[in-house]
Amino acid sequence: PNKINSICCIGAGYVGGPTMSVIAQKCPHIKVTVVDINEERINAWNDENLDNLPIYEPGLNQVVAEARGRNLFFSTEIEQGIKDAQMIFISVNTPTKTYGTGKGMAADLKFVELCARQIAQAANEDKIVVEKSTLPVRTAESIKRILEAEDSEHEFAILSNPEFLAEGTAIEDLHYADRMLIGGESDENGQNAIEALVDVYANWIPREKLITTSVWSSELSKLTANAFLAQRVSSINSISALCERTGADVEEVAHAIGMDSRIGSKFLKSSVGFGGSCFQKDILNLVYLCRHFGLPEVAEYWEQVVKMNDYQKHRFAKQIIDTLFNTVSGKKISFLGWAFKKDTNDTRESSAIYVAYELLQDRAEVHVYDPKVSSDQIYKDISYLQEHSSSSPYCKEKLPKDWKELLHIHKESDLCLKNSHAIAVLTEWDEFKNINWDSVYANMYKPAFIFDGRNILDREKIAKIGFEIKSIGKG
Ligand code: NAI
Repeated sequence: PNKINSICCIGAGYVGGPTMSVIAQKCPHIKVTVVDINEERINAWNDENLDNLPIYEPGLNQVVAEARGRNLFFSTEIEQGIKDAQMIFISVNTPTKTYGTGKGMAADLKFVELCARQIAQAANEDKIVVEKSTLPVRTAESIKRILEAEDSEHEFAILSNPEFLAEGTAIEDLHYADRMLIGGESDENGQNAIEALVDVYANWIPREKLITTSVWSSELSKLTANAFLAQRVSSINSISALCERTGADVEEVAHAIGMDSRIGSKFLKSSVGFGGSCFQKDILNLVYLCRHFGLPEVAEYWEQVVKMNDYQKHRFAKQIIDTLFNTVSGKKISFLGWAFKKDTNDTRESSAIYVAYELLQDRAEVHVYDPKVSSDQIYKDISYLQEHSSSSPYCKEKLPKDWKELLHIHKESDLCLKNSHAIAVLTEWDEFKNINWDSVYANMYKPAFIFDGRNILDREKIAKIGFEIKSIGKG
């Protein structure tokens, strides 16, 4: 197999950016070029001030500082990037379809298909094409057909190499991956391609963690991993609802069951619901595939994970409204956090969006503080849900026309919290633990309510000050 010395990655997003930065950092002998159609994004990746990179991830700045300009490049020259590389990663977005067949369920593969055509048109020699995007099982087959139909001169090997990093810990996850999965075809061309990619990762990942499988198993493993992870969250969240009714404490339950080595303690934290661009989209995609392959019972089983998550977000919003004497109209409800989890500026599918939407439907004055999310993004998120409100069973009703006047974004937590009727913790940012609650309490309407959607606050301390605190899964 060929030794790889040039890589191109199409898509400079949350996955393409960090993964390629780390490959370049760990493999100084490989030239890595990340290309994107989004010029603004590429400019931000090239910004001299590393604080202006388009995505925020702890540790990313240092990696980019080390490799950029040496063997890591960001560019909008897609065709040139493809020509110059022996190996091409496809790391473009694969959102849920918002139109036509499979609307609201299937993955939209138009960006991936476009990449395949771009590769075929630009290719000047045999290429290895690596699916980094999360794709429905058997997508490699479609990519291969397009490549071969558009370009019969050259040989293409298609690998599936799904990414398991979690946002917020992307660099750590890439440096110390639990495993790296590479799926390829069983013929010689396929096996050589697998070998070539294994060699790249072996520069820093121990060989025993590099697993190789068939393409179909690899593609399906990514969907399955996300389905299992999300299912654990929905499972513990379903129990949190029962805890609240019965006086049990979901954290005690999670701790007790987590010590069973068959269950394990990770990913059992109850919250206002999971978010992020992947879990919901990938499960819906799995559900769609199951229906497509004539397995309605399997489809329903997994669909319930998403339904439970919708319910959890709704339960939180409803609890706020119920507790505030059945209406939040005209009341100031302050949100701590908007990102879907701490240490990222990503807000895709964040629970905060759905909770805010329900409160705005009831005409609350929603005030938001998040340390990393721009106010532009927050308005965009609500506008998007307003347009696609059918995507949640609890946000179907359109917002009042003047909703923008009801939503206020703050750059400091103090001003956000001042004179509120209630505070809701939506993201578990560490800095929220250090808020001076005594002074917040002094400047709030009474009874002063706090809804801790992440269970990060010290309940006893908060209650002693005089707050009425409602946490997830605590009766
Ligand atoms: P993203 O939306 O942040 O980035 C995708 C980028 O691809 C965008 O900048 C877009 O402009 C670019 N793009 C789209 N079509 C293009 C084309 N034809 N030519 C050049 N550039 C093009 O998406 P993200 O989050 O990086 O996700 C990418 C894939 O990775 C998805 O399939 C996702 O499911 C998967 N994934 C995401 C994870 C995450 O934590 N975000 C984790 C693991 C997998």
